[in-house]
Amino acid sequence: MKKQKTLIYRCSSCGHEEPKWLGRCPECREWNTLTEAAAKNESRQVSKNGLPQTLPLSTVNPMEGSRIGSGIGELDRVLGGGIMKRSAVLVGGEPGIGKSTLLLHLAAATETKGRILYVSGEESAGQLKLRADRLGINSKSCLERIEIFCSGNLEEIETVLNNIKPVLVLVDSAQTLFSADAGSISGTVNQMKFCSYELINWVKEHDATLFLTAHVTKEGFIAGPKTLEHMVDTVIYFEQNDKTSGMSGTVDCRFLRAVKNRFGSIDEIGIFTMGEHGLSPVEDTGRLFLVRRDGELPAGVATAAVLEGTRTILVEIQALTIPAKGTISRVFSDRIDSGRVSRVSAALEKHLGLRLSDQDIYINAAGGIRITEVGVELALACALYSARTGLPLPADLVIAGELSLTGEIRPVQRLAARVKTAVNLGYSSFLGPATESQQDQTIPELKVSKNIKSAVKIIYNNVHPNEKNNN
Ligand code: TYD
Ligand code: MG
Repeated sequence: MKKQKTLIYRCSSCGHEEPKWLGRCPECREWNTLTEAAAKNESRQVSKNGLPQTLPLSTVNPMEGSRIGSGIGELDRVLGGGIMKRSAVLVGGEPGIGKSTLLLHLAAATETKGRILYVSGEESAGQLKLRADRLGINSKSCLERIEIFCSGNLEEIETVLNNIKPVLVLVDSAQTLFSADAGSISGTVNQMKFCSYELINWVKEHDATLFLTAHVTKEGFIAGPKTLEHMVDTVIYFEQNDKTSGMSGTVDCRFLRAVKNRFGSIDEIGIFTMGEHGLSPVEDTGRLFLVRRDGELPAGVATAAVLEGTRTILVEIQALTIPAKGTISRVFSDRIDSGRVSRVSAALEKHLGLRLSDQDIYINAAGGIRITEVGVELALACALYSARTGLPLPADLVIAGELSLTGEIRPVQRLAARVKTAVNLGYSSFLGPATESQQDQTIPELKVSKNIKSAVKIIYNNVHPNEKNNN
């Protein structure tokens, strides 16, 4: 029987397909962009008689277990335990952050025997080889299984894909893709979306995985990559800190963070440093966000134990308060949400009578890490208290806890693990929320406190017994 070619309506702006003509594309909301086209993926669920067919749920092959290791522990962590087959991953970040470097590391390290295609629209094959040499990619098996194709032309890329059938497709970058079929000027968002869509379809139909890079600017995410986010399964962004000095000298950390992940959590971050030989994963993050000091801490500094996904990290929280320059006091904090800082300072003012509303407040986290976990609040409160009163906190103290508006300290997840990390790094005391767990109650280093008032008492009674606070 002759196969009948199904017609569909494809949006010339975003590549979205509809069975019927519509005046406005439901996906990108553009008017008059749907035009008649042949359906590309008609082979998907069509039976022998040419009719579309459903699948009984019992016969569906679950994708669980079909992950492959990326060979880069920090990347696996962010992806949720490895690379999911038939998935598409968008890697966004500012130019120069290390997206191409990561892809090349990935090409060399992935635990697969299949072929790997690296499509580069940005660099020549020679440049890629130089970079590979720099990264130490020189084993015979690696050099043989990685195929390089330098082009952004979708039709050419599709021909190559069908020829070599790679299991891993690395495309650098989405912005260099173009196609004659996309029906608009090359280099536009529409071109990028159309081509990405075709590549995503290809990997899904061929049991492969796609990694696609996209540039974003410092000012925020430009329209382009943002519009790709809903098309892919996983979106990870590369961020950089501002090279503050940490315990191990000046650290130039790059954080890999998932903002969307259909196959895992988005809580995990991957931490890398960029060096002479490319990116190195930082697995031992213990001291990365602490500042090396001998003796007493300066006022305004507290050490917090926070969770980043499944790992605990210690971070030095720094607070500075100065009389407000304007009539309204302001909060300057880009590492911890400034709304959270305002809330914690309001709670301090209310429950300790510590005047902060006439102060400008500056908050920083050493090592430039962004902290979103609630467990940082008690340490933040202590840093603010210490900054405002001028009373330094004990240098051997680590703090974790959530602070409620009522001044109570609420339990946090995995308290014992936080204490353990602190103790392993040589800290001898830990202040945390009151705990019901029998096991936690037996931890010798853990001092617990129900509210912020008693927390301050516990901290300062031993250190400055005669000090009357609030200057
Ligand atoms: P790159 O991967 O080209 O960034 P992107 O693709 O995100 O634009 O990384 C570029 C930066 O990394 C560049 O400034 C040089 C630096 N770099 C190193 O420091 N060491 C290395 O081994 C490599 C390959 C790059
Ligand atoms: Mg690049």
